[in-house]
Order: sequence, then structure tokens, then C-alpha cells
Amino acid sequence: MCSIIGYIGKCMAASVIVESLKKMEYRGYDSVGIATLERDRILLRKDVGKVMDVDSSLQLNNMPGQIGIGHTRWATHGGITKLNAHPHTDCTNNVVVVHNGIIDNYQQLKDTLIKQGHIFKSQTDSEVIAHLIETYLKKFDDVKKVIIETCKQLCGSYAFVAIFKSGLIAGTRLDEPLIIGMGNDGNFISSDVLGFLEYTDKAIFLDNHDIVILDHQHVNLFDFNGNSVSRPITQVAWELGDIDKGKYAHYTIKEIHQQKNSIPMAFQIDPISLQKAVDLVSSSKNIFITGSGTSYHSALLAKYLFYKSAKIRTEIIMSSEFEYMSAPIDENSVLIAISQSGETADVLNSVKIAKEHKAKILSIVNISTSSLARLSDHYVSINCGPEMGVAATKSFTAQLATLYSIINNLCVNERSVDMSINMFGNALNEILIDDSYLEKIAEDIKSVQDIYILGKSFHYPIALEGSLKIKELAYIHAEGIAAGEIKHGPLAMIELNTIVIVLNPEDETYYDTLHSIHEMKSRGAKIIGISNKNNDMYDYFIKLPLVNKILYPIIEIIPIQILSYYLALKKDANPDYPRNLAKSVTVK
Ligand code: AGP
Repeated sequence: MCSIIGYIGKCMAASVIVESLKKMEYRGYDSVGIATLERDRILLRKDVGKVMDVDSSLQLNNMPGQIGIGHTRWATHGGITKLNAHPHTDCTNNVVVVHNGIIDNYQQLKDTLIKQGHIFKSQTDSEVIAHLIETYLKKFDDVKKVIIETCKQLCGSYAFVAIFKSGLIAGTRLDEPLIIGMGNDGNFISSDVLGFLEYTDKAIFLDNHDIVILDHQHVNLFDFNGNSVSRPITQVAWELGDIDKGKYAHYTIKEIHQQKNSIPMAFQIDPISLQKAVDLVSSSKNIFITGSGTSYHSALLAKYLFYKSAKIRTEIIMSSEFEYMSAPIDENSVLIAISQSGETADVLNSVKIAKEHKAKILSIVNISTSSLARLSDHYVSINCGPEMGVAATKSFTAQLATLYSIINNLCVNERSVDMSINMFGNALNEILIDDSYLEKIAEDIKSVQDIYILGKSFHYPIALEGSLKIKELAYIHAEGIAAGEIKHGPLAMIELNTIVIVLNPEDETYYDTLHSIHEMKSRGAKIIGISNKNNDMYDYFIKLPLVNKILYPIIEIIPIQILSYYLALKKDANPDYPRNLAKSVTVK
């Protein structure tokens, strides 16, 4: 996923855009570029690297002009090179474009445009947009018509913003987010509210096929037929402070520590919203749950909770597999779609398929203005504030808290648990009070090639989530394993000093998991035990505070998050911007 931003106003566009791109860099950080318009000259500077580095090498901040666009790229088509960095110009340098998404038919369009004499500079799909606009600019004076005719040629997903030499800035979207920020000193077109939150909290969320044309005085919105439309102005709820690292070295560790508040907050769901969610589920014959990555692990945990607590059968389908499962989803079904960003392409695709089969959609999101929230019959916000680190941490435990609350309300009688705000007592403070022991473990194991994480029952999804954190933050191969499965193969991987992390609080799984630990230990494994109770089998013991047993999955992931963070630092990786990844995968 990339970040795109456009600005037109009283300020120097480049300096505003540099700051905006820094706040959206979590969306993609392979390369960065800015174009500005000064009088009738389009200036363009771009290169491989992070915003701060390219700004200092190319002086992005000093580019003249009060109209500009900017882009940080997560490469899909075309390698990570200067030429493939956005923005992209047409042949005449009369228009310059930044794009987020994938143009599925770009090769065919490119071949046609080349035959018509267009010269391409990059290998990207995005550049075709600039040349199509150039083509239609020769036919029509009306920028709105140019944009409409350009989009008629495009297949795939896109949000793009273009500057025209005439001094206009225009944008449109299909299945990629695009938001207008209405500031006092200028207006923005952005992929993300974080692109303009420093300047305004007034936003207009564009619908698919909306077209926006900005000049220094006006914000004009049109539909795909060229008719004027109006969209509501929304007040963005987030505070600027939420997106500042504060005393922390990285967003990732800040957000891990924010869990002492974000977890209890996530349990404080608006009662009306919670009841709507419960009613949607209880009125459905079939319950399907979907998500990607960390959100898929939340879905897996939900399956255990639905069975164990509410005695309700559910079907879990990984979003990227949904279209291949031909699941028997119908008008009697509800699809629970879990997504922090609400923009993950695989999740949106699953929702589209479910809606085609007349299923109801209940989404669990962190961004209530996201595409997923707007596609849903009802959404519940996990309410954990912006998560800037690419690795999901506080959003994961907030998703779990939200799922616990919904499922708890579906339980009858004694099966429900105390969901009051003090249910964790001091446990969250205890577990987050001191990272030094986990940092020491990270120092001891930083050079290992493999780490295995065992978990039984509803600790198994936590084992999977823990392995994802280690992989994406520290680039160490890690594998989550159902503890009872080790004899069916994984035990063959155990050698002297193989690192095995075991999720083993004193609940119904405790003794069975101890057996698995014995089997690993007798073959030379080095055991990191995560439990409320120590044991001689552990080479390292990470103490969990005592809580209601049903709540252990929510807190036992936290030590692995912290361990993964310090492993990243020990390996000189940047925890906030893991290689090859982006915060939300808005392309399939
Ligand atoms: C988790 O740490 C990863 N960043 C990734 O797996 C993420 O959970 C996945 O891309 C889903 O994102 P979403 O929750 O915004 O849909």
C-alpha cells in the first residue's frame, strides 16, 4: 500500500507535504517523491529511501509552489528504483500523478499508448494514468471529463491525485481510500487522515468514483457522470498526540505499552453498538469469521471462544482464501470481518463476496471511517487510537477484547465472565512494568535461526500471533504449533538448544502442555515458559500475573510482543518499518 497526498493553499506545498508523508510513511516506505507547481512549471524530485533521507539529499522541503503532491511507495509493479518512484509525469510534463492501488490492465494500456507514441520512463502500472490524462487533455478542456474518460480505461483499484499546469489539483478513487482535509490555510487530498490531522480535523470521505477538483478557492465534488455531488464533512476523532512517539524510541514499543489502557478501553463498548452486534450474530443461522494476518489470529481465537463460552459453531476463513472456499454463505449468514485498517484488499474482497450472497456483515475495525466499516451492516470500533507501528500490537488485544465482549453477551447464565473494567486488576501494569528481563532474553537468543512457539486450545492462536511478531519484527523464522501436534512431526526439528516458547498458564491445558515441554526438553530444547507458575523445565520463566483463566490469551501475547521488539533492535532492524511490509495491504 502507498500513501498519496495533495495540497493546495497559502503555505509552501512541499514543506507541508514532507510532514504529511512522514506521518503516513507506515503505509509504504520503499521510495518517496514530491511534485509542485510554481507559476506554470511542474517541479519533481524523487528517489529511493525514507522521507527523511530523501528530503535531506534532494531538499524536498525547499521546492517552490503552493500546489503539490507527494507519495511514499510500497512497490508492487516495478522494482524499488528512482524511476519507479512516484510522482509520474506524462510526455509533455503538463500533468503529474501519484497513485495508490493496482491497475490490472496496465500492460495492455501501456502497449496501446506506446503505439500512439507515448514514451514511458518507468516499469510501473501507475504511469499509464499520466499518459491517459495527457491523451484526454488533448480532446477535452474540462478536467472533470478528462478524469472520467481516464477512469473508464482503468481496471483494478486506484486512488490517484494529479496536478495540472492550469493550477488545478484533482483526484478520484475506486476501492482505495481518498479523503479531503478542509484546512484554514489550504485543502488536502490524502490516503489517510494522518496526512492532514496536524492542520485540520475536518474531513470528507470520498465514495467510489467520486471526483474532486480543488483550486485555491473551491472544493468541487462530482460523481462519475460529471454531476455535482455533496458529501458530509466529518470531524476526525483522533488527537494529534496519538501519533507522536512521546518518550518512546519507536511507535511499536509505545503501542505495546499503551495496552495497559487500550485493553480496558476496548472492553468499554458503546452498549447500543454492542447490542446491535450481538443481535446480528444471534439472529444468523451461520457465522463466518474472516481476517488477514494478525486479524486472522483474532478470528481463530474467536472460534475457540464461540465454542467454549457460547456453544456456538463458527466457520473461520482466511480472507485470502475466501474466494476459493465457495463457502455456503447465504442470507441466513453473518460474516464477521476483522481488520484494524478496514482497508485490507483480501478482507474487502471477502465482504464483497458475502454481500453478493446476501449475508449480513459485522465488522470489527479500528478506523470507523474505513471502507470496511462503510460496507458493513454494523461495525464495532476497537477504539485503540491510531496504530502507527506496522506490526499489530495494541490493535490485536483490542480486537480480542471486543470479541470477548460480543461473545460474552451471547453466553447464557454462568458461562459469561466478568467484563468489568477492573477485571485485569493490576495485571496489565505488572506485565508492562519492566522490559529488562525480556531484553536480556532477546540478547541471549538473537542469533538463533528458528523459534517455535507452543500453545494448546485458545493459546494456539496466540502461538501463531507470537510467531508472526517474531518473523515480521526480527526476521527470525518462527513457527506457532498446537502443543499436542509436536509428536506428529515438529519434534523432528528439535535439536540441542532449539528455542521453544511455551504458553502455559495454569488452566485446563496446563498438564498436557507440560508433557509436550518434557518431550521437547528431553531432546535438547531450551524452554522459555510463559505462565503464572514457574517450573524446573523452564530455562527462562516469564511470569504472568494471575487473572481469570479465560483472559490469559489477551495478556500472554504481550511478553512475546516485547521480546520481538527487542529482538528487532538487537538485529538492527527498524521495528516501526519492517522490511517488505506495509501497515495495510490494500492490494490483492
Ligand atoms: C500484523 O502485525 C501485520 N501488520 C499484518 O499481518 C496485518 O495484521 C494484516 O495485514 C491485516 O491488517 P488489517 O488488520 O488492517 O486488516
